[in-house]
Amino acid sequence: KLLLAYCALALFVLAFFTLACCSLSVFQMMKKGECYFINGTEKVRFVERHIYNREEYCNAKRWNSNPQLMEYKRGQVDTYCRHNYELDAPFSVERRVTPSVSISLVPSSSQPGPGRLLCSVMDFYPAEIQLRWFQGQQELSEHVVATDVVAKGDWTHQLLVLMETPAQRGVTSSCQVEHVSLEQPLRQHWEMPPGRLPCSKVLMGIRGSVLGFVFLMLGLGFYVYRFSSFFFEEIPRWCLRAPEV
Ligand SMILES: *[C@@H]1O[C@H](CO)[C@@H](O)[C@H](O)[C@H]1NC(C)=O
Repeated sequence: KLLLAYCALALFVLAFFTLACCSLSVFQMMKKGECYFINGTEKVRFVERHIYNREEYCNAKRWNSNPQLMEYKRGQVDTYCRHNYELDAPFSVERRVTPSVSISLVPSSSQPGPGRLLCSVMDFYPAEIQLRWFQGQQELSEHVVATDVVAKGDWTHQLLVLMETPAQRGVTSSCQVEHVSLEQPLRQHWEMPPGRLPCSKVLMGIRGSVLGFVFLMLGLGFYVYRFSSFFFEEIPRWCLRAPEV
């Protein structure tokens, strides 16, 4: 973390394109000033690069033999690097955005069970972050799948971490985040809501009820059929007297 390679590219870049004759001949001359802040402004290295058509070159012998030029270039560690650091650091090196942490239940499509838990860590800066999953007091290191830290392009990042162990009723799951913007680790807790049956069990219950109802109806129908034929068809026939001859 001490090594902050902070390259100021754009400021010193002199790039000019010369279009000669056809589209084939494009010449590019570039000068880059790079400042490496190894420990804030305490230890700074200044590198100047000269590039012609993607090829780096320098005339070291001529420059080194010019004490005035060398003095001037050394001075740029102050006038250019340190100066720009003071101006830019509040918006870059010292930028801190606190993450927002939320937990959601992801229904599992393949395996039966109550699904998995997803910890979403959104909108933080800088990118360095540490996330841990806990079940009760126990940290889970296996069954945890994380995405890479994604840069959103607006100077914030996001991270998604999935806990594959199914959430258990009565056990609190927590997602803990450590980030330089936080004074102490941020913990988000999650518990299986009481009275809410996991999706697959509800389905199993419905299937069972339907099957039971079908069998009940079949049995009842058969019984009613037997009953009616016994009383309204069979008995009257029994009651008939034998024909008198
Ligand atoms: C970085 O600079 C600070 C002073 O700003 C100094 O106290 C510290 O020892 C330096 N750290 C390293 C690793 O050189």
